Amino acid sequence: MAKILVLHGPNLNLLGRREPQHYGAQSLAAINACLQKLARADGHELECRQSNAEAELVEWVQADAADFVIINPAAFTHTSVALRDALTAVAAPFVEVHLSNVHKREPFRRHSYFSDQAVGVITGCGAQGYEFAYRVAVAYLQNDSQAGGAVETS
Ligand code: DQA
Repeated sequence: MAKILVLHGPNLNLLGRREPQHYGAQSLAAINACLQKLARADGHELECRQSNAEAELVEWVQADAADFVIINPAAFTHTSVALRDALTAVAAPFVEVHLSNVHKREPFRRHSYFSDQAVGVITGCGAQGYEFAYRVAVAYLQNDSQAGGAVETS
């Protein structure tokens, strides 16, 4: 049984109401419920947290000792060295998720402080991107426990 931490950054508490042309119609609660269901079926512990505050996200990364992190840093993607450093400090493998395709939007969204440290990046797949990220986490953890290695991508 692995512990998977799902972190949602600022303004993602507004999902479902917030710019649905970019972020879709699903609420954060619905996304979290879907992930919880998948994890329960696989026998993993999965915890979902959202904050609008950078410091709180940093503290959760430091405190949680998760085996894997699924994170949508939201606007902090483009600004937060502190959150990047927290993930690096605890050496947590993580997948970076974005609901919208950040490469199709304003130029400032193309830069991420996380992508070069991530196991993978999922962008533009909407709420389904979280499910994909969960699958990557499970494959990574399985592979890691068997071989101590990286996720097989081919
Ligand atoms: C986002 C993309 C970010 O650029 C933006 O600031 C968000 C959400 C996404 O999920 O598409 O808040 O991370």
